Amino acid sequence: MRKMVVIFSVVLMVLSASMLIAGDEKKIHMNKCLPPAEGKPFIEYIMNVSPYHGWGDWPGHAGMKEGKSPHGKYIKLLANPIALKAVREGKEMPHGAIIMKENYNEKKELVALTPMYRVKGYNPEGGDWFWAKTGPDGKIMAEGKIKGCIDCHARVKKKDWVFHPPK
Ligand code: HEC
Repeated sequence: MRKMVVIFSVVLMVLSASMLIAGDEKKIHMNKCLPPAEGKPFIEYIMNVSPYHGWGDWPGHAGMKEGKSPHGKYIKLLANPIALKAVREGKEMPHGAIIMKENYNEKKELVALTPMYRVKGYNPEGGDWFWAKTGPDGKIMAEGKIKGCIDCHARVKKKDWVFHPPK
């Protein structure tokens, strides 16, 4: 009987260890799928690989809201699952977090996309955020360590460089 118990617990241990390994592989796989901090693959990622329309709204920020200068008159704020999980749990924005802001004019026409993407080690003095500005169709207008974005968002450096408090 005791032998059976021993065998059973060994089997359980092996099983749980392999589940852990599988979980880790999944995680690595997820990160592998994240794009590098470069305009083209990044835009390809948010438009086609993991289309940002399918992400969720920033908590407390569903639909179109009035924005503040210099972002459009109206804005929409979405974030990928990595960013949403962190903000819901009140945690620091992790590597892989993407926050997407759609910028609309007074006529509520989409005029620009201004996403920010956190990439470990990309730019420590700029909070490791990769910035981009594109047309409504994803045509890149600026990308990378954009000085304008960094200088202004530095005001909220202590909050992960993110203005919007999650509500
Ligand atoms: C002059 C200041 C200023 C500049 C320049 C600026 N932003 Fe912002 N940004 C803000 C403010 C203020 C908010 C929050 C208010 C709002 O949403 O309109 C914001 C919000 C955002 C958000 C939503 C997350 C958050 O921080 O709340 C993203 C994403 C963003 N900006 C990206 C960019 C990108 C990309 C650039 C450069 C192309 C940029 N911003 C340039 C001031 C700025």
